[in-house]
Amino acid sequence: GDGDLGTYPFHMLKEIDEQPVVMRRLLAAYTDENGTVNLSAELTQALAAADRLYFVAAGTSYHASLVGAALMEEYAHMPASAYLASEFGYHQPLLAGKPMFVFLTQSGETADIRQVLVKVKAQGFPTLTITNVPTSTLAREADYALNLHAGPEIAVASTKAYTAQVATTALVAKALGVAKHVQAAADWNLAHELGLIAATQQTLVDAKDTVHELAKSALATTRNAFYIGRGLDYYVALEAALKLKEISYVQAEGFAAGELKHGTIALIENGTPVIALISDPVTAAHTRANATEAAARGAHVLRIATRSLAEPGDDLVIDDLNPSLAPLALIVPCQLLAYYASLDRGYDVDRPRNLAKSVTVE
Ligand code: G6P
Repeated sequence: GDGDLGTYPFHMLKEIDEQPVVMRRLLAAYTDENGTVNLSAELTQALAAADRLYFVAAGTSYHASLVGAALMEEYAHMPASAYLASEFGYHQPLLAGKPMFVFLTQSGETADIRQVLVKVKAQGFPTLTITNVPTSTLAREADYALNLHAGPEIAVASTKAYTAQVATTALVAKALGVAKHVQAAADWNLAHELGLIAATQQTLVDAKDTVHELAKSALATTRNAFYIGRGLDYYVALEAALKLKEISYVQAEGFAAGELKHGTIALIENGTPVIALISDPVTAAHTRANATEAAARGAHVLRIATRSLAEPGDDLVIDDLNPSLAPLALIVPCQLLAYYASLDRGYDVDRPRNLAKSVTVE
């Protein structure tokens, strides 16, 4: 069955490998043969009636929410922002006139999110839960629910749920943008792009040996590591760092590449790993320059870039894709880096210390 380990040593590796299949499953679930995204009319109307979307989530799902909010603004011209559930519930920001709440949650059981849901429902605001568990508490208690179709995720460190969340928010952004007559949404062949991304993800999971060598070279014994990027690459950097922290216990951080010079470059020592994520055409040259500055101070720099932005000597080159969907591909080698860093240190990849898959207490 879906949750069985089969011949895999760990669920995490199996779940990383499943990501292309999950992309195709989402396409089958939410699009028709013309590439039209099918959401219920009620949900589409509720979203279109809002003047701002509030994504509220925790952990990896929060990192997916950052991408999701950006996609809503780009393709649906819908103001959107992402919040940590554990902060939002007790320090609610000044809300827009017609807010709608989107809860991204793999488990659908995260207590920090539920307390927000209870509060915003009491305020009378519409709610949507996007979850991998359609029978979960948050799916049942929200006005609307969408299924991530990722299949059971067993490893504590979330992988396929993250990419499913990014892809699902893209599908919602497309449907909402089309309903709102946004040209960028009408012109967006998302179904085609998600098919290409599934193929790109496949080439990346097939590059395990390459990524394993990179992990050995940069992460084998280090006590810390930094991921840098700008725009969506920054959001990927946050998630990449979380993966490494969770399962290898390396002190890892994701930094907005331009902020390095405003303080964090002080952390760079001889051999400090700095992984530069370069898929954003607008800022590629800037991020590259930041990586070079880190290298000049002794950092062990790895560069992961999309093909048209790649330069000789880059450590991993990813097929070109719509930069707005780059996190779907870029995160895959980062998941593998974390996996191999943990494996090579001899840890239980699927059951990291101190962590639970689903946190049902605040
Ligand atoms: C726990 C897990 C994380 C997860 C977070 C949010 O802390 O260890 O991997 O990202 O909860 O979980 P959710 O089920 O709401 O996505």
